[in-house]
Amino acid sequence: MTRANFRVLRGMRDITYADAARLTCIEDVFAKQLTSFGFEEIRLPVMEAAELFNRGLGQATDAVMKEMYEFRDRDGEQVALRPEGTASCVRAVVNNNLCREDRPRFWYNGLMFRHERPQAGRYRQFHQVGAEIFGFESADADVELIAIADAVFKDLRIDSSIEFEINTIGSAANRAAYRSALVDYLEPFRSDLDEDSQNRLSTNPLRILDSKHDKTQEVLEEAPDLLDYVDADSRGNYELALAMLDELDIGYRCNKRLVRGFDYYTGIVFEWKTDAIGSQDAICAGGRYDGLVPMLGGADVGAVGFAAGIERIALLHESANTDFDYRSSDVYVIPFDEGLRGYANTVAATLRAQTGLRVRMHLGAGKLRAKLRWADRSGAAWAVLVGEDEKSRNEATLKWLRTDDEQLSLPVSELSQKLIQIRRN
Ligand code: HAM
Repeated sequence: MTRANFRVLRGMRDITYADAARLTCIEDVFAKQLTSFGFEEIRLPVMEAAELFNRGLGQATDAVMKEMYEFRDRDGEQVALRPEGTASCVRAVVNNNLCREDRPRFWYNGLMFRHERPQAGRYRQFHQVGAEIFGFESADADVELIAIADAVFKDLRIDSSIEFEINTIGSAANRAAYRSALVDYLEPFRSDLDEDSQNRLSTNPLRILDSKHDKTQEVLEEAPDLLDYVDADSRGNYELALAMLDELDIGYRCNKRLVRGFDYYTGIVFEWKTDAIGSQDAICAGGRYDGLVPMLGGADVGAVGFAAGIERIALLHESANTDFDYRSSDVYVIPFDEGLRGYANTVAATLRAQTGLRVRMHLGAGKLRAKLRWADRSGAAWAVLVGEDEKSRNEATLKWLRTDDEQLSLPVSELSQKLIQIRRN
């Protein structure tokens, strides 16, 4: 048979050891905070009808037009790997009629797919934790979500390397009026704009405000102001949100150029940004999308949410938490020979049950020296050695792997007590 040599696809990654542990740690902090704010988990499919995203996010958005993994499945249905979670969450709320008796507050965690040009912090498969609140038009819902993300970033100790930006983009009618004013202003400068922005003049002109090109930004300096086109209701809501943030002592920067990449947004939008991970500066983003639930066939209820990019947060977490302690196990159990495996397994099971420590069993045969090398590599602080003598006395021998403490043999439940005690100190 010929040997096949497969490589991971471009923009996809195998995530192992400390990197995987870091993602789990971040996801756990989100789950803990969201649960403590009374949010409930929702698990959504990774694949949906492509039309859900075409309609929900907007045909002209980058995520749909350039980046979607879209194909015909074996039944001939046009499907897509989800580029984000909000549209699926709304579909689930509508399909299951969840807004009839409830005003759900959901969170989700999962893989998203975008066929982007890969670089540090930008992948084609990545994890998002998202949160969505349905059924409220008032700004307290927006602020509740901002407060949760703020608590997460403090918990993760990355708050000093990020900045929170907020804006309001008003109603769909406000944006339509602004859009034509912006196009009228930009058209005479067309040739000064970067290529992307030139294309966006006809497809999605508001995104030009986001352009990272100096020349385009120069042209934009004199451009009309979105805030001048925003109606009194949206402005009122925005001011209310800012006052609530002041009350909560959450810092913010009003960025009047902040617009978001999907068509569903209305009103308040926000982003947490960093300059510590290169050009991929947004680590979490969201906003209000009051029209999406009715557009996808549900009741006319308000909705607001955010999604955080877990890989980007991991990059920040790595520099902010140099003490992040990654080890697979605390204790490594070594039977001297194969005949002792049964007894060693009962020792390991007792230690797991009584101490709650992570206990890794040595697998396979070999010399004691080699087994101790594996114990060292596991990162465990202690080895527990099991020989004939120990078995005959119902004991095991505790060996310190990282310090010079003298090893000792103890009955197994005393060994548990000892481990609990030394771990505490
Ligand atoms: P988004 O801004 O497209 O919003 O994505 C949210 C976050 O996902 C970004 O700020 C970024 O951290 C991360 N992210 C996006 N693309 C990539 C990528 N290619 N590689 C790594 N990380 C990435 C949404 O997805 C909206 N659904 C947010 C929302 C929820 N709005 C309302 N509710």
